Amino acid sequence: MKNFFISFEGIEGSGKSTQVGKLSSKLREEGKAIEVVREPGGTRVGELIRHITHDRENVELTAVAEAYLMAAARAQLVRDIIKPALQSGKIVIADRFIDSSFAYQGYGRELGEGTIFEMNKLAIDQVFPDLTFFLDISPEVGFARRNGTEKVDRLDLQQKDFYERVYRGYKKLAQKYKERYVVVDGSKSIDDVAEGIWMEVIEKIKG
Ligand SMILES: Nc1ncnc2c1ncn2[C@@H]1O[C@H](COP(=O)(O)OP(=O)(O)OP(=O)(O)O)[C@@H](O)[C@H]1O
Ligand SMILES: [Mg+2]
Repeated sequence: MKNFFISFEGIEGSGKSTQVGKLSSKLREEGKAIEVVREPGGTRVGELIRHITHDRENVELTAVAEAYLMAAARAQLVRDIIKPALQSGKIVIADRFIDSSFAYQGYGRELGEGTIFEMNKLAIDQVFPDLTFFLDISPEVGFARRNGTEKVDRLDLQQKDFYERVYRGYKKLAQKYKERYVVVDGSKSIDDVAEGIWMEVIEKIKG
């Protein structure tokens, strides 16, 4: 199996990083050559951009600027890491990719999916995931996980509409890109989710 690119998507707290870790270990145990990346980031320049996009001080960052920063980090990641890895026959696993831009900047910030696609065309250089796991949990469950047993804070509440739009965006994307999307019930236990993901990946590896 060559040129295989798997992405993980879902709102904060849905378990992406947890499952990326589980799948990577499994594939390594199987002796597969893999490359694991995260967005935004994964390259030196990309991590600098991540610093800008994730710094809560940057309240004035506009939606369009945010969208371009995400695309810029992605452009660097595709050329420095993803393309070379795929070309050398590795399996690439990404903790977020272009669907995060569709969901967050397209739907969450309401720039529109079409606009985001135009902005990302050059960035992705025709690299699309072959398989995308959408870890489906409601924004409420996501909030609860991130905050432990603590109550949801003021900022989280203010952002509730935003996260609802992001979540609904992911659902639309899963419908639209049925051929590569696998929707996983992210409210199950970590091991159950990992098992479901592994079954899908095995199927693809065999095929
Ligand atoms: N299936 C699960 N059931 C219960 N808790 C989980 C599950 N998966 C992950 N968690 C826990 O929820 C928290 C968030 O998980 P994780 O960091 O993997 O999410 P994420 O999708 O990567 O979030 P972010 O987008 O913020 O990076 C962690 O404390 C993790 O241990
Ligand atoms: Mg994560």
